[in-house]
Amino acid sequence: MKNTVMTFKEAKNKGEKLTMLTAYDYSTAKFIDEAGINSILVGDSLGNVMLGYEDTVSVTMEDMIHHGAAVARGAKNALVVIDMPFMSYQTSVYDAMVNAGRLMKEGRANAVKLEGGIEVCPQIKAITDAGIPVCAHLGMTPQSINAFGGFKVQCKTEEAAKKLIEDAKAVEEAGAFAVVLECVPAKLAEIITKTVNIPTIGIGAGNGCDGQVLVYQDMLGMFSDFTPKFVKKFATVGEVMKEAFAEYIKEVSDGTFPGKEHEYKIDEEVLKKVIE
Ligand code: KIV
Repeated sequence: MKNTVMTFKEAKNKGEKLTMLTAYDYSTAKFIDEAGINSILVGDSLGNVMLGYEDTVSVTMEDMIHHGAAVARGAKNALVVIDMPFMSYQTSVYDAMVNAGRLMKEGRANAVKLEGGIEVCPQIKAITDAGIPVCAHLGMTPQSINAFGGFKVQCKTEEAAKKLIEDAKAVEEAGAFAVVLECVPAKLAEIITKTVNIPTIGIGAGNGCDGQVLVYQDMLGMFSDFTPKFVKKFATVGEVMKEAFAEYIKEVSDGTFPGKEHEYKIDEEVLKKVIE
């Protein structure tokens, strides 16, 4: 059954955990969808894990639409959330609405996600009023990496922790259907989870959130540039890939691949006429 924003609401009411993973292409989205995930996030983390940038700042609307549409084609049951890239919504409410609309129409998203609290609430309200579900994103918001001065746990001071709680209440009030909490102390994330009525989706925010999200390359052991403390590697797919690539290189080099079973046949009579 297709997951919707109602699935998120009901899960929070029933105390059932929500599951979310990133994906950026059709085949991976299909695997994740078939595994039974609630939601797939086409994160702007694609800038890091797919395109090799050192941060998400350079990711464009065209990148998000291109990858988002591929994921949407592969995700039958998962709710597809597409990230609004840096400067596609911060500039004005008008820009936010136009770009959210493009992610829905061209990227075939079921919802969009944007980073920030009180300062982007006019955007969240306008987008949701237009019938587009919005997931908020608080805590360590990677698009603000230059303002943070690096990837760091956020909200450890009294002032910052209070601001985070106010931001969470504000994005709920503005109409967000869920909020991602990234790199937030677990106890603080738990307080927010109890304070707001929308589901909290944690990444580096402990077990007290209503759901969890991870970047799929991180949890499969496919991305070695940088592994945050909160990542658990559920598999070592990167190693399996390297072994398979090395085996392919060996078999092509020593002539054992392709074998007879990989060949196409031609009628001997036709062949005779070809070489006559
Ligand atoms: O872009 C992304 O993958 C994200 C997750 C880290 C939540 O925003």
